[in-house]
Amino acid sequence: MKKNILITGASGQLGQFFIEKLAENNNVISTDINVSRELVKKYDLKFLDALNETKVRKFIDKYHVDEIYNFASILSAKAEKYPLKSFQLNTNCFLNIVKASISSSVKKIFWPSSIAVFSKESNLGYVKQDVIKNPITIYGASKLSCEKVINYFNINGLLDIRSIRFPGIVSSSTPGGGTTDFIVEMINNIKSKKKYICPLSPNTILPMMHVNDAVDASVKLMSVPRKNIKINDSYNISSFETTPNEWKNLICEMGYNLEVDFQPDFRQKIADSWPRKIDDKQIRKDLNWKPKFNKIKTLKSVIENYNLT
Ligand code: SER
Repeated sequence: MKKNILITGASGQLGQFFIEKLAENNNVISTDINVSRELVKKYDLKFLDALNETKVRKFIDKYHVDEIYNFASILSAKAEKYPLKSFQLNTNCFLNIVKASISSSVKKIFWPSSIAVFSKESNLGYVKQDVIKNPITIYGASKLSCEKVINYFNINGLLDIRSIRFPGIVSSSTPGGGTTDFIVEMINNIKSKKKYICPLSPNTILPMMHVNDAVDASVKLMSVPRKNIKINDSYNISSFETTPNEWKNLICEMGYNLEVDFQPDFRQKIADSWPRKIDDKQIRKDLNWKPKFNKIKTLKSVIENYNLT
């Protein structure tokens, strides 16, 4: 049976990929505060400020919402510029959705966490599912706070909230304020033919995944019975690891002309506090899931979507 699925922050980095996937079998109500004419036309995007709990509740009641995917968020690098505003936005949008969902038609909530919850104490060479976390960014702090709330609601059976800690996501959407954005920006720069100024040093290793794998795993996580879910806060997930230098070389080996100047800025410190490799055995086991895109397939697919070939 078709479900009514509300997506908040739908015009951001992840939203449109979730809309397309979820709309295959469901009624999707896509919302954001950024409602460009193009997205309104393409996805029937509606205005909804997830900071307004009353309005969120009105949407839930009006559309008899069964599930919510909440993507309203300010990413890691941008959040450092407005720490309090970012903490407030990232946590309050989530808390409002939680509050508005209590005693409503909503049966499940999906919420994206991030590798930003980790820190130097997490054994960054290979980060296991359950480790010490002391994030140095406000973005990481907001994600970790919400993870604690998720754990609380799940273990007390108050709501069913499901979550994944995403690494850098590689897609053809415009990046916006993340520390892992070089992965998309380099591809973007092939098109513009501009020299790319990379904010990270050439050998910074970070975990990444293709957006389709991120969407598939999330939708799968939302579809399994609760009893299959062994993690009450948020699942580790990953697909491959790369560095800015390796990514640049892969692009050049594919025949593109990309010039990169490495000028590490404040984002280097953030990246240095994030995992180099993730242990995601638990999600692979619980969902019987594995990524379909390796490094090369990811690069080829995103380049194709940019119509560069
Ligand atoms: N891609 C995100 C960022 O760089 C990490 O969750 O902020």
